[in-house]
Amino acid sequence: MKNKELKRALILIVFIIILVVIIKMVQGTDKVSKQLKKIGYNKDEITLIKENLNGDSINKILSLEYNKLISGIVSNKYFIPYNLDNYIEYSKKEEDINKIISMVNTNRDHEFYTNTKQTDISKNYSMLVNKYNYLPNDYTVNDIEEISNWYAYEGHSIKSEVYEQYKKMWKKANNEGLTLLVNSSYRTMEEQKKEYDNSSDEYASRPGFSEHQTGLALDIVTHNIIGNNFENTDEFKWLQNHAHEYGFILRYPKDKENITGYNYESWHYRYLGVELAKKVYESNLTYDEYYAYFCEYKNEC
Ligand code: DAL
Ligand code: ZN
Repeated sequence: MKNKELKRALILIVFIIILVVIIKMVQGTDKVSKQLKKIGYNKDEITLIKENLNGDSINKILSLEYNKLISGIVSNKYFIPYNLDNYIEYSKKEEDINKIISMVNTNRDHEFYTNTKQTDISKNYSMLVNKYNYLPNDYTVNDIEEISNWYAYEGHSIKSEVYEQYKKMWKKANNEGLTLLVNSSYRTMEEQKKEYDNSSDEYASRPGFSEHQTGLALDIVTHNIIGNNFENTDEFKWLQNHAHEYGFILRYPKDKENITGYNYESWHYRYLGVELAKKVYESNLTYDEYYAYFCEYKNEC
C-alpha cells in the first residue's frame, strides 16, 4: 500500500516537472516573439527568424533595429549562419537578398586580394583557388604528364587524372566532328608571374592565386581560334553541354565577373571530378559560390 502511494507521488512529481518545463519553454519562445514584434517584425518574419536562427543569433537580431531584409536573408537557400554579421553589414548598401548572400559567402564584401587565406589543399580536386584563396608558396604538383600534341599545342602538361578525362572528352567531341585543343595548362609559380606581368587583374591571376598552378585547369580552344572568338564555335557549344560529364566546369562564366573576379573566359575549364562537376553545373552557381556553401559550410566536398 505504502509503495503504491510512493509510486503515485513520484509520477505526480515527474508530471509536474515536465509541465513546468513545457510552460517555461512556451513562455520563453513567446518572450522572443514579443521582443521581435516590439522591434517591428510581423508574424511571418518572426516565424522565419525563429525557424532559421539559434539563440545567439536571435539575440543579435534583438540588439538591432528592425531590418526588412533579415527574414529573407535567414531563410535564403544559401544562408550560412556564421556569416550573419556580414550579411547584416552588407544589407546596409544592397537590397537584393540573393546578391547579399552571394557576395558575403564568396568574401566579395572585401576587395579582391584582401582578407585572403591559404586554401585547404587537402580538398584536392575540389580545392578552391581564387582571389581570396591562394596556394602555399612551396606548393608542388606531382603526377604531371605532358599532353600529346594530338590533343594540344606544343609543350603543355597536366595532372594524370585530368589528362585521362580530357582524352575521353576529346574523343567524344572528335567523333562528332569537333577538334578540341589545349593552349594552356599547368603553370609553375614563375610561369604564372610572367603571365600576370604581361596582363592585368581582369585577365590573369596573381602568382599563387591561379588555378593553372594546381594542374587542374585547362584552356581549351580549337584550330586557329583563340580568346573571345572561341565562344562562337561549335566546340564551345559542345563543351557547354558536355564538359561536366567528364568532370570539367566553365570556371569564369558570362555575367558572373563580379563574383569570379575575371572577365568571361569561354576557354578556361576547371577539373573537379565527374560527380562534383555535375553538381556544380546543375546548381547554376559559380564555383566560388558553390564552394562557400557546399564545401566549406556543409563540408560535402
Ligand atoms: N586566366 C586565369 C584567370 C589565370 O590566370 O589563372
Ligand atoms: Zn585559364
